Amino acid sequence: MVELMKYYSPKWAGHLAMIISVIVAFSYPIMGIFFTKLLFVSMAYMKPTFKEDRDFWCGLYLLLAFGVGIFGFLQKYLFAFTGENLTYTVRKLLWEGIIYKHISWFDNRERAPGVLTNILSEDITQLNGLTSETISHIIEAALGLIIGIILSFIFSWEMAFITLALSPFVLSGSVLMAKLQWKVKNKASAKAGDIDYYTESNALLSDIIMNYRTVISFGAKNIDFLMDKYDSLLVQPNKQAVKNSHISGVLFGYSLFTRFAFIGAVFYFGTLMIIDHGLDPEQTYIAIQILFLSAVGAGMSISHAPSMGKARDSATTVFAIIDEPSQIDVRDTTGIKKVEKGEIELKQVDFRYPSRKLKVLNQMDMKIPAYKKIALVGHSGCGKSTITNLLLRFYNLTGGSLMIDGHDITEYNVKELRKQIGFVMQEPLLFNTTIKENILYGNPEASDIRVRQMAE
Ligand SMILES: Nc1ncnc2c1ncn2[C@@H]1O[C@H](COP(=O)(O)OP(=O)(O)OP(=O)(O)O)[C@@H](O)[C@H]1O
Ligand SMILES: [Mg+2]
Repeated sequence: MVELMKYYSPKWAGHLAMIISVIVAFSYPIMGIFFTKLLFVSMAYMKPTFKEDRDFWCGLYLLLAFGVGIFGFLQKYLFAFTGENLTYTVRKLLWEGIIYKHISWFDNRERAPGVLTNILSEDITQLNGLTSETISHIIEAALGLIIGIILSFIFSWEMAFITLALSPFVLSGSVLMAKLQWKVKNKASAKAGDIDYYTESNALLSDIIMNYRTVISFGAKNIDFLMDKYDSLLVQPNKQAVKNSHISGVLFGYSLFTRFAFIGAVFYFGTLMIIDHGLDPEQTYIAIQILFLSAVGAGMSISHAPSMGKARDSATTVFAIIDEPSQIDVRDTTGIKKVEKGEIELKQVDFRYPSRKLKVLNQMDMKIPAYKKIALVGHSGCGKSTITNLLLRFYNLTGGSLMIDGHDITEYNVKELRKQIGFVMQEPLLFNTTIKENILYGNPEASDIRVRQMAE
């Protein structure tokens, strides 16, 4: 949470929003007083001062309405503003964190494009649940209740006492529900067993979409198979959610019941106190009304708070990516910048893709003299492309060494090294722009003549 607050900007807006929350906390208890006063004034319409009384309390009510309107606007505006800034900053950091990662990082199934885009769009927006917006909603709710309790004790301590004594009964319902929903969400959203079903299904979906030509070319049977597989991944979360809906339904019913029963009971005891113990009706109802409205207000403000549980999960995911250093980082500025001749030597090179168990290259030796044209020939999957991957330093070797002009490849600056190697992939990938721009991507300064030559 503290880590998140660093990205809150501008800071003053966050602080101001907090202060405003404190002010807003007074609104419901005060409304309780005004409301009851107005009620008693309108009941006493025979009184000679009726008109003045009515105008006075209506005026105050109107004033309160304006106050709540203005502060409510400011509060929402400031939170939306700072929250959006936070999302923007962290999303930029996350994007940077992703785009600069070493290539093997992306070979992991859990970093399939579908999963990553989901984190970039979904998890980031959940982060607001851990910021001052949540804190100030909690402050607002707690403070509203405290102010309500103090005020109602001032008006009628007997009633305040009775209401308070009954409140655990109501709170238990809401607390139980909140707790259970929290647990339920945690379970449904992820780790049922070891597999995160949503991540799995997202990964599958992005695989299908990216390779849709292949998928379709295998015919309807293949499509059915994939559909079934996707469905089966969603069965478990669905089961869990259906099971949970029963529990949360019961709890919701229970909490509604307690709320209504509570109101009935409080009014019942109130009339008993007035009739049997001679309490002043107006004072008694003010006390009841204040407590009642404070509780309503507190409930509303808590329900407006973004979910903390979800936010915590998302923050873990997002910051794990941001904080994980890239093993081969092109932002690094150290190392040898220029390849002088281009003599390449592989010495007892061992290599296995980090995502695989089997070695692709086993104790490989090879020497390519400078300025020579060579061709690597071999059956499919023997590791030809792998060698180019290593030369471009997409991966680090598992063992042995790869020398360029007598220097180990790790001594070179990655960015400069890659700049000096021309590379046409086996399956060229075109970006969704013009051919010219695709060619220029390798060297933005190339002249039109060069581009034409390359294209030919
Ligand atoms: N990113 C990767 N992660 C895991 N394994 C990989 C990855 N890329 C390639 N492999 C595996 O490494 C082995 C060598 O692959 P490579 O692409 O180097 O073969 P190749 O000689 O270029 O084959 P082809 O002639 O078909 O292009 C293969 O078994 C392949 O499945
Ligand atoms: Mg190849």
